[in-house]
Amino acid sequence: MSFPMVRHRRLRQSVGMRNMVRETVLNVNDLIMPIFVTYGENIKNEISSMPGVYHFSLDRLKEEVDEIASLGIPAVLLFGIPETKDGIGSSAFAEDGIVQEATRLIKSWYPDLLVVADTCLCEFTDHGHCGMVHTYERDGHVCGDVMNDESLELLVKTAVSQAKAGADIIAPSNMMDGFVQAIRAGLDENGFEHIPIMSYSVKYASAFYGPFREAADSAPQFGDRKTYQMDPANAREALREAESDVLEGADMLMVKPSLSYMDIMRTLKDQFDLPLVAYNVSGEYSMVKAAAIQGWIDEKAVVQEMLTSMKRAGADIIITYFAKDVARWIKG
Ligand code: PBG
Repeated sequence: MSFPMVRHRRLRQSVGMRNMVRETVLNVNDLIMPIFVTYGENIKNEISSMPGVYHFSLDRLKEEVDEIASLGIPAVLLFGIPETKDGIGSSAFAEDGIVQEATRLIKSWYPDLLVVADTCLCEFTDHGHCGMVHTYERDGHVCGDVMNDESLELLVKTAVSQAKAGADIIAPSNMMDGFVQAIRAGLDENGFEHIPIMSYSVKYASAFYGPFREAADSAPQFGDRKTYQMDPANAREALREAESDVLEGADMLMVKPSLSYMDIMRTLKDQFDLPLVAYNVSGEYSMVKAAAIQGWIDEKAVVQEMLTSMKRAGADIIITYFAKDVARWIKG
């Protein structure tokens, strides 16, 4: 009778043994919780495509932030639904814009809670694109090109106004070329050289953003985002995107979405030494929620497996709508 030379099962035989050899552990310090803020009074409305995620008016925001802070989650990521939209997204850089107001409030309640500002225009433009658009008609349809350099000026204004309101981290998600360099220069000129840029370096043109576009009311009114967000088929291009962000002065790199892009996370982690962020996006959240509500999967186990896999793939930080749940599970 012959026996296995090597017995991998020795190290799996008990909880204590498994805990001792575990390579990857989720930590509450890794988490960032997104929040959607809106105008109006006494609003805490569930987003229908994202069960458990809400729109908060500023007068109800504190209850959410209290919970996040009490769980020890170190950071929130703010998205705003403005009162008015226009062609250039001017509510994105208004001093009294919704994100700016929310930032000031949160920092007054919790000076140590990090506020990450998503720097983009798509929630604030009437056409729903992430930059300024040149529109024209073709065969009776409205078409448009998103203008890169003109958009950069608006994005710089947005980032500076977010920093003025107290944002601790600027996270540009617009995918215009040169956005890190432009925003870095704008921040520095305005005395915010200490504010880091968390760049959405590798952001794919993904169908997984569907529920978010309902949540943020930011679906493009014509065309799509494929002329600025990346083609999901490309991996080498991700290296070029990330490399230019590093050269332009990004402090952290992000890969978005997460689940279908863990190969990209691993590649970036091996190539660059900056902290790596994974964005576990709305569609990834909603798929899990939908299956959990049906009773088809074990939500807690699935979420922990997903997020652990992101860390194993190289993510240091995870932006996730599950942040509060995960923090509770870690505590409990
Ligand atoms: C803004 C932005 C988007 C997301 C984060 N920032 C939407 C988009 O690019 O369409 C998506 C987040 C999610 O799906 O959870 N540009």
